[in-house]
Amino acid sequence: MSREAAISSWPYPRFAAHRGAGKLAPENTLAAMRAGYAHGYRMVEFDVKLSADGVPFLLHDDTLDRTTGGRGRADALTWAELAKLDAGSWHSPQFAGEPLPALGAIANWALANGVACNIEIKPMPGRERDTGAAVALDAQTLWRGADMPPLLSSFSEEALAAARDAVPELQRALLVERIPGDWERRLSQLQCVALDSDYRELKAGLIAAAHGAGYKVLTYTPNDVEVVARLNAWGVDCIITDAIDVVRPE
Ligand code: G3P
Ligand code: MG
Repeated sequence: MSREAAISSWPYPRFAAHRGAGKLAPENTLAAMRAGYAHGYRMVEFDVKLSADGVPFLLHDDTLDRTTGGRGRADALTWAELAKLDAGSWHSPQFAGEPLPALGAIANWALANGVACNIEIKPMPGRERDTGAAVALDAQTLWRGADMPPLLSSFSEEALAAARDAVPELQRALLVERIPGDWERRLSQLQCVALDSDYRELKAGLIAAAHGAGYKVLTYTPNDVEVVARLNAWGVDCIITDAIDVVRPE
């Protein structure tokens, strides 16, 4: 699909729940996705990496320590081993036993509930290319024939290039912490449809320039209603927030 065709078919809501439900539920779990949904959100952002045996699953950090009962590198365990971990107790007792989800479980839930997905490809260091390709291929299979395929994003340009090469038709966004001077060249090279920036980097002029060049703009993670209102007024296309109990997704 050409970039022009992809952008003209941009189907995504204006608000997305960061890691499923911000901090209201254990991040990157099905419980978080359900909490985001209960607060009216119809798009979720979550982080995906690969198990030792190549299964895409949800986790933010490079290690299991902070958000699961496991220890050590996230890609040291097979999916069968990861699936047994408790990814809820660290957050609060009510989520004890909540499992780490595979991408497939989230896809099934999102498709059943009409929820759009922003899959952030979050490779373990050194696994950028295989993670980008594997996540794109898995997403292609899981969302085949869907009205609203997922948007893939990554800070890793290597992962995005591999995703593009594996499944060119899935739309991609380049994540940045700082906006590089050559952002337009990078988006063009990766055949991205959108720039996804830290909200503190955005200015009205940059958003207008991106739109003028034919790109959408997403932003993470404004959690203050006044900041969100300003970004909206500037025409940001998607706001990824933790503050799902405060920011109304409409
Ligand atoms: O996808 C946007 C945002 O999630 C990037 O930051 O560290 O929360 O994955 P992080
Ligand atoms: Mg993320």
